[in-house]
Amino acid sequence: MKIDILTLFPSMYDGFLNESIIKRAIDNNYVEINIHNFRDYSTDPHQKVDDYGFGGGPGMVLMAQPIFDAVEALRGDNTKVILMTPQGIKYCQKTAKELSLEKHLIIICGHYEGFDDRIRSVVDYEVSIGDYVLTGGEIPAMILTDSITRLVDGVIEEGSHINDSFNPDTNLLDYPTYTKPREFNGMRVPDVLVNGNHKEIEEYRYNESVKKTERIRPDLLEK
Ligand code: 6GU
Repeated sequence: MKIDILTLFPSMYDGFLNESIIKRAIDNNYVEINIHNFRDYSTDPHQKVDDYGFGGGPGMVLMAQPIFDAVEALRGDNTKVILMTPQGIKYCQKTAKELSLEKHLIIICGHYEGFDDRIRSVVDYEVSIGDYVLTGGEIPAMILTDSITRLVDGVIEEGSHINDSFNPDTNLLDYPTYTKPREFNGMRVPDVLVNGNHKEIEEYRYNESVKKTERIRPDLLEK
């Protein structure tokens, strides 16, 4: 899996790419993640990437040219282009799974008040991470990259996905887990988890998952 991220703020990715599972996935060649400043593709003498919107209105609008040229330069035969925008389809685990099967993604981070609508003509998916507004698409692009990378075969231990704290196949939240000590601040680990009866443990966990989902995310049970 190769992911090219187009941004005006490349240094936002320094920490993200250099810690924990993402760093290991890169070091072990499960993913290649490249950060590109699309200002480098601007043909303007001052490397301008934005301008006032036609028709008026507040703020600056990203110009089509730098993004077009960047996508053109990076695109291969099997590339999907994703635009991060609060106006996109809402991102979810199912989409993460689909995208994790692709060979090459280009992710464009929007910023400022918006972008020239003609940018949409080079884009396959417009994706939002939820119904709230951020200052830019950099953190959303990290969220996509993180959620996709961990699904690439080999990146995390086989079987861990099944215990994901949210499982899109069952639409249930995760059951509670505990580690040592058996009693902490007067709170005891449920006996069923330490009695070694695997069938009872499985039943307990399933019931806890359902109860928790009913309480916190009843919308998931309706699906
Ligand atoms: Cl992808 N971008 C911005 N700026 N805000 C968002 C978003 C994206 N998704 C949710 N809010």
